[in-house]
Amino acid sequence: MYVAPSILSADFGNLQRDVEAICDAGCDFVHVDVMDGHFVPNLTIGPVVVSAIAACATKPLDIHLMVENNTFFVDLFAPLKPEYISFHIEEEKHPHRLIQKIRSLGIKPAIVLNPHTPPESIEYLLGDLDMVLLMSVNPGFGGQSFIESVVPKAKKLSAMRDKINPNCLIEVDGGVSNKNIQMLKDAGVDIVVAGSYVFSHKDKKEAIASLKI
Ligand code: DX5
Ligand code: ZN
Repeated sequence: MYVAPSILSADFGNLQRDVEAICDAGCDFVHVDVMDGHFVPNLTIGPVVVSAIAACATKPLDIHLMVENNTFFVDLFAPLKPEYISFHIEEEKHPHRLIQKIRSLGIKPAIVLNPHTPPESIEYLLGDLDMVLLMSVNPGFGGQSFIESVVPKAKKLSAMRDKINPNCLIEVDGGVSNKNIQMLKDAGVDIVVAGSYVFSHKDKKEAIASLKI
């Protein structure tokens, strides 16, 4: 299991310290939540702060867009050369075109599904994706409870992925901890995002290690 701590739960007064701490503690990616106050009822960070994160991160960035105008934000963040940019299928009229655009910028394209969105909605996009991110909370905030229906959904998506595009990774985001990591692993999940679980631990190495099963 790969682990991508979400910097949403970091101490923003000590952002460099916290980004370095998770990288030193063995995370695989740094998950960056970009919220615009329109698609979700919260507002986070833009390219100025994300470039400061990129400058001190020794692990690749996984940028999760929760915004209304995806193409505009892809153009803003592409110069930072993240590993992944993921966008919500619920907010995109032309997802295939945007996947092509992200790939043409040398970035791995990923699609995010909200808790209500069925995996079948991306059946014809799966062949062109490097990752699918399943939300296990409603997007917008850290520290929410895990929505269990993501487990059968991940199983269904995993079977589709094995048939259509075995190289496509499955990521789960929200309420992840050592309590649900085994069921996510069993459901075929490859990457977990964990915000409050990792940052509430004094020993980040131990917290990350407990998810790397
Ligand atoms: C929620 C974000 C998550 C969030 C996860 O909209 O996408 O990445 O930071 O935080 P936890 O792990 O605390 O649920
Ligand atoms: Zn996220």
